[in-house]
Amino acid sequence: MKIAIDGPAGSGKSTIAKDIAKRLNIIYVDTGAMYRAITLKLLDKKENEYEDILKETKIEFKDGNIYLDDVDVSNKIRTNEISKKTSELSKNPMIRKYLVALQQDMAKKESVVMEGRDIASVVIPDADYKFFLTATPEERAKRRFLQLKEKDNSLTYEEVLKDLKIRDKNDTSREVSPLTKAEDAIVIDSTDLDYEETISKILSYIK
Ligand code: DC
Repeated sequence: MKIAIDGPAGSGKSTIAKDIAKRLNIIYVDTGAMYRAITLKLLDKKENEYEDILKETKIEFKDGNIYLDDVDVSNKIRTNEISKKTSELSKNPMIRKYLVALQQDMAKKESVVMEGRDIASVVIPDADYKFFLTATPEERAKRRFLQLKEKDNSLTYEEVLKDLKIRDKNDTSREVSPLTKAEDAIVIDSTDLDYEETISKILSYIK
């Protein structure tokens, strides 16, 4: 079984997708984490070096953690700086091509809940179920702010909302695979739903 969950930053996709995978006892693939890991590796590199670097890069998930060249980078990729830079670098067609191939390979091998921006439209257009999870920018910023506050208490809600709107703009307006709702995706708006209600709604569609 293949389940695609797409949606904007802060829509709760990751937590929801992880939980759905656990309940269905199948693999969870966080594709945003893959874009973040690549960004970490390319942070201080020049664009003309990317191709060679990608050829010798290894990205894997083990026990719910993401490994970049055999090093667990799960925490390192969750900073506000990496979020901003990832949104820029994920416009790069070469990086997208590399990661999409890796993701398609994962989905071919086993049942997955795969979560990202272009999963239903590009990575697994033949998915059994496609969901587009969203919420208002203010609600998403509130959730992100509460999450980030634990690591960085210098951030304000206003800054998080501003960054989120910039990322929304980047993610929806880039030329290659912008964030869009696939025509046949089911929209789940979680603005007024709590966590369990969102999960139940999604599960109610899955047979
Ligand atoms: O889901 P996230 O916030 O961890 O994603 C980080 C960035 O990666 C986000 O700016 C959009 C990008 N991304 C993407 O372009 N395509 C995906 N399938 C997943 C994430």
